[in-house]
Amino acid sequence: MRRIGVTLGLMLVGACQQTGDGRDAAAVERRVVVGTLTGDPVAGARVFVQCKACHTIGADAVDTDGPNLYDVVDGPVAQRRPRFAYTAALQAMGGRWDAARLDAWLRAPQGLVPGTTMRFAGLSDAQQRADVIAYLATYRRDR
Ligand code: HEC
Repeated sequence: MRRIGVTLGLMLVGACQQTGDGRDAAAVERRVVVGTLTGDPVAGARVFVQCKACHTIGADAVDTDGPNLYDVVDGPVAQRRPRFAYTAALQAMGGRWDAARLDAWLRAPQGLVPGTTMRFAGLSDAQQRADVIAYLATYRRDR
């Protein structure tokens, strides 16, 4: 497997006011760096169309085939949505969804967590992964 030295982080710029759906008003200012790539949340919103088949993301939205993804970036793996039936395989991974983890997950969900019910082939394009992670981060609650 290709190893990527992943340095990542969230660069937060600007005042963080919440909008009605729990989204950060300074969303477009928020960038996520995955490896050497900087994610663009606007491009990420277009990538997220593929995820919408199974996921909502608004603060008050319900779980559908997959768990609502509100505040998933840096959140605990398989714990945020207590009413969602996460697989034992995903729960066993534990830890948090930092950008490196999300990157590996979105590249190949079944590769990272054999037995997961996320039936999604994965995004082979690293820039698309960085973009969609940046989009997810616009729904990150400030902590
Ligand atoms: C075919 C349906 C489907 C698609 C498409 C899909 N997912 Fe999922 N996703 C799931 C399911 C089901 C789970 C729960 C998996 C488990 O419990 O093993 C999940 C779990 C997740 C999790 C972990 C959530 C948590 O609370 O720990 C993240 C993050 C995630 N998906 C992101 C995405 C993103 C981003 C996309 C689009 C690039 C996407 N998913 C596409 C069905 C899907």
